[in-house]
Amino acid sequence: MQKGEPGNIVDCLRIFSGSSHPELASEIADYLGCPLCSRATQRFSNDNLFVQLGESVRGKEVVMIQSFSPDVSDNIIELLMMLDAARSASAKTIHAVIPYFSYGRSDKKDQPRISIAGRLMADLIQTAGASHVMTMSLHSPQVHGFFSVPADHLSAHAVFTRHFRSKDLSNSVVLAPDIGHAKRAAKLARALGIGVAAGDKERLSDDTVRVAGIIGDIAEKDVIIFDDEIATGGSVMAIVDLLRKQGVKNVTLACTHGVFSGPAIERLRNIPELREIVTTNTVPIPPEKRLPHMTILSVAPIFGEAIRRNLMGQSVGSLFAFWPDSDESGLPE
Ligand code: R5P
Repeated sequence: MQKGEPGNIVDCLRIFSGSSHPELASEIADYLGCPLCSRATQRFSNDNLFVQLGESVRGKEVVMIQSFSPDVSDNIIELLMMLDAARSASAKTIHAVIPYFSYGRSDKKDQPRISIAGRLMADLIQTAGASHVMTMSLHSPQVHGFFSVPADHLSAHAVFTRHFRSKDLSNSVVLAPDIGHAKRAAKLARALGIGVAAGDKERLSDDTVRVAGIIGDIAEKDVIIFDDEIATGGSVMAIVDLLRKQGVKNVTLACTHGVFSGPAIERLRNIPELREIVTTNTVPIPPEKRLPHMTILSVAPIFGEAIRRNLMGQSVGSLFAFWPDSDESGLPE
């Protein structure tokens, strides 16, 4: 906690990490000046999971940190069991911190007989015991409404603007791969004092997309492609193809969630125009996926600060994804 704040907040706090991303969880715990509590997860011979919290949570503010990164299904079940364990052990409040909510992409019924799985996951998290959820850069803003417990939808905007303000952006433009993400891209562009453009993207399959055109002036510009996530790299490939035809020679990729699944890393490795890939640590990025021109920004201070303010009963509005522009993120330099 920050200097001058009552130490009893740390006394009331218990932070647990799921198996998905212990490094981020321990950075968040360090920010709060509170050690991580132990948790044991085992697999029975019949493939069922067993989860046990290593410390009493009775009457405590409990924070459970779990990203929906591979193995996604195991990580979700583990989180649900951690929440349930804390509730039945009489925790006072249970905060589910989900830096990457992967099922946010399943947010509508765009084919017959499918599940809106983002909504289902939100229901399960609440049913398991979460009284409050914190997450970051959901696929679409509407997913926020899937949660019927209070949910803080945070943004990595502050760390991206800090990063890009140290660069020469005199010939740069921010490009959203699709219209749905144009608002987020416009917010970054405004903060950087540069222009914005958007692609007209259509997804053909899990790893292939078509970009019919680009709205906005990108000819011969240095283009910062800004998206919520890079999964297979299909969107990036289609956009870069179009940029090439318009004489673009310098491309930077920026995304909150560096999922880099399937062919993504090989695809990115083979884009000669690519100058830098800027992502965050909402999901773990193993050494074999770290390219030499990749920068990984930490979102631990954003989650740490949001947790701190929640515990202190203070506003977290300046850390939200869709609130008006503000330079006052309140994050330490
Ligand atoms: C969805 O459309 C998202 O905003 C991203 O553009 C998408 O997840 C990227 O996926 P991929 O890298 O597989 O094209």
